[in-house]
Amino acid sequence: MNSFLSLLLFSSLFILTLSHNNGVARTPPMGWNSWNQFACNIDQDLLTDTIDQIVSSGLADAGYKFVNIDDCWSYKNGRDNKTNELIPDPVRFSRGIHSLSKYAHSKGVKLGIYGDVGFTTCAGYPGTLDHFQTDADTFARWEIDYLKLDFCDIPKKVQDEPWVYFGYMSEALNKTGRPIVFSICAWQPKEMYKWARKIGNSWRTTDDINVSWQSVLSIIDQNRELYPYAEPGSWNDPDMLEVGVVRDGRSLSQNQARTHFSLWTLLSAPLLLGNDLRKIRDPDQKWVFDILTNRDAIAVNQDPNGAQGRSLYQNIQGKIDRDGNCESKNCTRTEVWGRPLTRPTKQSYAAILFNRAGPNVDDEKFTQEKITIRWSSLGMPSDAKVRVKDIWSNKDLGVYQGSFTSEPVEKHNVVYIRLEQQ
Ligand SMILES: *[C@@H]1O[C@H](CO)[C@@H](O)[C@H](O)[C@H]1NC(C)=O
Ligand SMILES: *[C@@H]1O[C@H](CO)[C@@H](O)[C@H](O)[C@H]1NC(C)=O
Ligand SMILES: *[C@@H]1O[C@H](CO)[C@@H](O)[C@H](O)[C@H]1NC(C)=O
Ligand SMILES: *[C@@H]1O[C@H](CO)[C@@H](O)[C@H](O)[C@H]1NC(C)=O
Repeated sequence: MNSFLSLLLFSSLFILTLSHNNGVARTPPMGWNSWNQFACNIDQDLLTDTIDQIVSSGLADAGYKFVNIDDCWSYKNGRDNKTNELIPDPVRFSRGIHSLSKYAHSKGVKLGIYGDVGFTTCAGYPGTLDHFQTDADTFARWEIDYLKLDFCDIPKKVQDEPWVYFGYMSEALNKTGRPIVFSICAWQPKEMYKWARKIGNSWRTTDDINVSWQSVLSIIDQNRELYPYAEPGSWNDPDMLEVGVVRDGRSLSQNQARTHFSLWTLLSAPLLLGNDLRKIRDPDQKWVFDILTNRDAIAVNQDPNGAQGRSLYQNIQGKIDRDGNCESKNCTRTEVWGRPLTRPTKQSYAAILFNRAGPNVDDEKFTQEKITIRWSSLGMPSDAKVRVKDIWSNKDLGVYQGSFTSEPVEKHNVVYIRLEQQ
């Protein structure tokens, strides 16, 4: 057996007994979340429209099944004085959350909600500390399918032992008897995968993503070494997608968005769209839709082996500092990433040939790079014959022995290939 595969197999056997098994998220969850585009500007009309659009646009058929409400949905001034339960904002969610989940379910999609393990949420709404079972029961009664639990406004005891408090919620959700995806959003403690995978379906590995190339690069780098900890039911979460998001006039270029999506699919990341789905069928959004619905890219993400892609090769020229910034002004950098697949055949792989170039969007140097992948870097014999399919152009590129060298790749872009050993 080749070493790459046996390493992956070994690491997943090793982790198997420790991972969270509530029966859901056996492949990375796919859906939409309100935060990246809308932050606190949410209400039931936006959610209803998004449910309609995710279905009618074809995104749900492509796999995006969750519509997740982020922060700011509840009544800000406190819990119900009699029952101590969270209550929906009486103006923006006057029809209640249960009516939204019933609507989502009637359309064949699922509804997610947001909470916080501390006193208040990041935007200052009531937190779940000391109310874990009450809130779990409320969410189950509302037929919620996904819970993101954040990490703001926490006392020292939660800071010191976050696994205890996220663990309370994990148990409380279990007691409801309703399978609910549990997304742990504790972005501060180091090496949280050591505990989070035992109690949650995913765990945020970094600070919040934002609409910038810097942010995408920084998150890719922080997830480089985390591949051993992903497996069916338990995923590293490099945060939600910024493809097609426009915030404060900023957006990712098409190359950057394609690269962002490619890496997230290879990394077995949850794929939670962040863009305004009410615009997804506008002609100027066609490129966004095409990125988000690429079948082969999604198939890599959803491969049942749950193997997170890893960095196979980095070529760095010039001096790049620890934050990925180019110090010597002439940095060029290409990277190769890969992972095994079980489809379409058992000897399949996916790989990304990435022209990272310098960190500056307007850096005109090193715009085109040819990038080579050797089959041995994926654990195949060095003289293996491999059929190469280009995932973005949807073209069969033929059979290559030993290695494959791409056509020149534009800066901040990737060539994403699916490989079948012959
Ligand atoms: C609970 O009581 C407090 C104090 O009287 C009040 O400010 C708050 O609005 C009440 N909460 C609800 C949900 O009615
Ligand atoms: C609760 O935990 C048990 C034991 O891990 C598991 O078998 C069961 O599926 C869980 N139920 C839910 C609803 O998460
Ligand atoms: C976006 O993220 C990058 C990388 O973490 C950070 O340097 C930058 O300050 C962030 N920008 C904003 C506007 O938060
Ligand atoms: C990049 O700049 C550094 C320092 O200025 C220099 O030593 C190095 O040779 C340059 N590399 C290339 C590929 O031009």
